[in-house]
Amino acid sequence: MKNLIAVLALFSASAFAAPFDKGDAKAGKVTHDKQCAGCHAARFNGDAGKIYTRADHRVKSPASLAQMITTCNANLGNNLFPEDELNLGAHLNGAFYKFK
Ligand code: HEC
Repeated sequence: MKNLIAVLALFSASAFAAPFDKGDAKAGKVTHDKQCAGCHAARFNGDAGKIYTRADHRVKSPASLAQMITTCNANLGNNLFPEDELNLGAHLNGAFYKFK
């Protein structure tokens, strides 16, 4: 919960910039490939990107993306810092969701 608040605070601080603008997408991709892709790929026949692009995917806004990253970070035992979550947001938004 603390992480979610921190991410939302970072997010609202940049409300006038593109979502996750302050995140480092490259660093986010490294974290994603290490910590996130395996579990998602296991659920979608080895295709880690599918979870974000499936027709009924859940994330519909930058805020719900931030929330989902925090939820999945909790699955991992909350071992990521708010900056990591912001970087993950930059990567996932740039590569998949494309929120403006
Ligand atoms: C232990 C398994 C597991 C790990 C590890 C995991 N996730 Fe997930 N993630 C899931 C599951 C299961 C769902 C689908 C939830 C649903 O559809 O209800 C999901 C869904 C998501 C979604 C929403 C996709 C959509 O539908 O639009 C995002 C974003 C996401 N995860 C981000 C991450 C990030 C970032 C990490 C790494 C920090 C991560 N996840 C690590 C299991 C995991």
